[in-house]
Amino acid sequence: MPDLRLTENALHQRHGSNVGQPLTRRDGVLKVTGAAPFAADHRPPGLLHAVLATSTVARGRVVRLDRAAALAHPGVVEVMTPANRPPLAMDPDAKLNPFMFRIDVLQNDRVRYAGQPIAVVIAETLEAATEGAALLAPDYEVEPPRIGLDAEAPHVPPVVGPGHPAEVRHGDVEAGLAAAAHRVDLTIETPPQYHNAMEPHAVVAAWDGDRLTVDTPSQGLGMARMRLAGLFGIPLDNILIRSPFLGGGFGSKGFLTGPQILGVLAARLVGRPVKLVLRREQMYGPTGHRAPTRQRLRIGTDAEGRLTALEHRAKVATSSFDEFYEPAADASHALYASPAIVTAHEGVRNDTGTPLFMRAPGEATGSIALESAIDEAAAAAGMDPLAFRLANYAEVEPITGKPFSSKALRACYDRGAEAFGWAGRPLEPRSMRDQDGFLVGWGVGTALFPALMFQGEARAVIAADGRGRMEIGAHDMGQGAWTALAQVAADSLGLDLDAVEFRSGRSDLPDAGIAGGSAHTATAGMAIHNAGAAVIARLADLATADDRSPLYGAGNAGVVARGGRLHRRDDESRSEAYAEILARAGLAEIDARGQAAMDPAAQAAYAMHAHGAVFAEVKVDPELGQVRCTRLVGAFAAGRIVNPRLARSQLLGGMIWGLGFALHEEALTDPRTGRIVNANLAEYRVPVNADLPYLEALTVPEEDRIVNALGIKGVGELGITGSAGAIANAIRHATGIRPRRFPVRIEDLIGL
Ligand code: MOS
Repeated sequence: MPDLRLTENALHQRHGSNVGQPLTRRDGVLKVTGAAPFAADHRPPGLLHAVLATSTVARGRVVRLDRAAALAHPGVVEVMTPANRPPLAMDPDAKLNPFMFRIDVLQNDRVRYAGQPIAVVIAETLEAATEGAALLAPDYEVEPPRIGLDAEAPHVPPVVGPGHPAEVRHGDVEAGLAAAAHRVDLTIETPPQYHNAMEPHAVVAAWDGDRLTVDTPSQGLGMARMRLAGLFGIPLDNILIRSPFLGGGFGSKGFLTGPQILGVLAARLVGRPVKLVLRREQMYGPTGHRAPTRQRLRIGTDAEGRLTALEHRAKVATSSFDEFYEPAADASHALYASPAIVTAHEGVRNDTGTPLFMRAPGEATGSIALESAIDEAAAAAGMDPLAFRLANYAEVEPITGKPFSSKALRACYDRGAEAFGWAGRPLEPRSMRDQDGFLVGWGVGTALFPALMFQGEARAVIAADGRGRMEIGAHDMGQGAWTALAQVAADSLGLDLDAVEFRSGRSDLPDAGIAGGSAHTATAGMAIHNAGAAVIARLADLATADDRSPLYGAGNAGVVARGGRLHRRDDESRSEAYAEILARAGLAEIDARGQAAMDPAAQAAYAMHAHGAVFAEVKVDPELGQVRCTRLVGAFAAGRIVNPRLARSQLLGGMIWGLGFALHEEALTDPRTGRIVNANLAEYRVPVNADLPYLEALTVPEEDRIVNALGIKGVGELGITGSAGAIANAIRHATGIRPRRFPVRIEDLIGL
């Protein structure tokens, strides 16, 4: 692969600082001209094509495969089954940490879910491999599949989500409910959903002895490299993963999946480079998904409409062989100020692939249930749903007592309500119609997402010509990391964007942590910021200690970096260019590393979240029950916005996920076979432009000095959290009917 060159664009003029400018994507032209290499674009010499054969049953054993028929097909080179799969240095079912997910890589003849890989056919062409896979004609010993939330008796998960306790108790919920003037008891069901990144999981693997080069999309290059090193028993330095561009990830590319490892194993088996690309339907099983949930909320309020109790119980599905539990009930921990809060989770084992982090895992599912129940509590108290939220949002986190950025949340409510035109909303449901006779409803939902950071590192270089370079193995899933992180890099080096080379997207660069939890800009951004500051400090040391420099004696803190020069703070006219400093010191370049991590002291003292409020308008056909979301307006406070154009785009995307959650997305499973019947983008519905004629995301200025030195919070997942609930609540307002299962179905609204 040639070195990545980012597109230069006339809009990339620096006005003051780089951060805060609404630059277009620096890789935009590469993307639209097809010059940006995605994993499957790679064709090393001698490349073979691998195609998965996958199970059509959900539980049982493979008892026969016609390997000979596949091998006899012209072009087929090899068929990999459990019998000849190369050995691994570690058990793929081992779980040494909660993030080491069990994978199916032909370790035996067992079938644990429909769509599980059961063989890999490797051929000279994609067509031959595809035909070979079809010739395997497997026979199975079949056991009845366990599908759905009533498939078996529930158990209490050891932990939920990324390691949170399954149950949290604060105060006396029963007493709070008993003392309440109004009570709500609402059960909400959410469906299985699949990530459906536009780019399927793909891998091009090439071995050279025990050195391995892998082109594959990754949201977590450092962890992916460790996973390969562990599975294949080779040193980290022998592995290079290239992942400059991802066509979306949504969580499904956070960890290497079974099919990606199978591509590497296939290359090992045949001793030639191998490409393996999943077909769309093959992404409905081994690559993670969002588990279905059934959530029951009980809420009590006093005569003034203040919460007295909040109980949120979630039953969620997981797989038969691994642990991931959607932390849905955790959504009730921080947002509303109830004196008593209980959250609890139960798990049910299903014969499906293992669920995984997906687009605000827990926050999205939990928020839709919480916001629905809060809306019912407002109705029970006879209050406007926005006024009810204004009376009940937390000033301090109710369970921990930590200060909460409630001013920012309040600003979101005010700004969003004003932009939407909420004032004058009639309290009564079914009281608005448009000129065509459609029922009109307005709903609100609160958005909340934790402001997280992981550990990351970056390396900054200033070269003899005074130009800068920033190296970090960061991930651009399409969100714009190539642009936003380069903006942070340029500021950290005191240079124009054009004077900085930004190297990223490879595992041989410093580990940027995982691009998940909406924490990538904060994590990678802080590592970059610190690396830039460190290299500038080294440069300042050189200059200020040298009596030939105009900066001599200023001291490290006495200089400031700007425009490729160091200036004395006490006399800005005295300055020296980076290139001059390096030349006099006889250095070809100077470098430094910087790290990023969450500050545990700040974490212990403060609640850290990004906030928002989303307002929805729906129109419902009173005869046909068809719902259209006609307006969706969100106002969000997410700390410092590195690039307003890209941040808005992220927030709009999250709101569209919310629309999909409310009205479209659902994987339908045949309970008799355990097979997903709509495992394709024709029948797995996602929103399109016509589904949302008016969409706006506004950002509310917020300076948060506590989350990190740059004040960066995440915007990737925030938008989904308020939006689905706002739409559900608008449907309730339009029709008087509370949606209790998602996506909302016509048959639940018909007969109005
Ligand atoms: Mo995500 S589900 O944080 O990639």
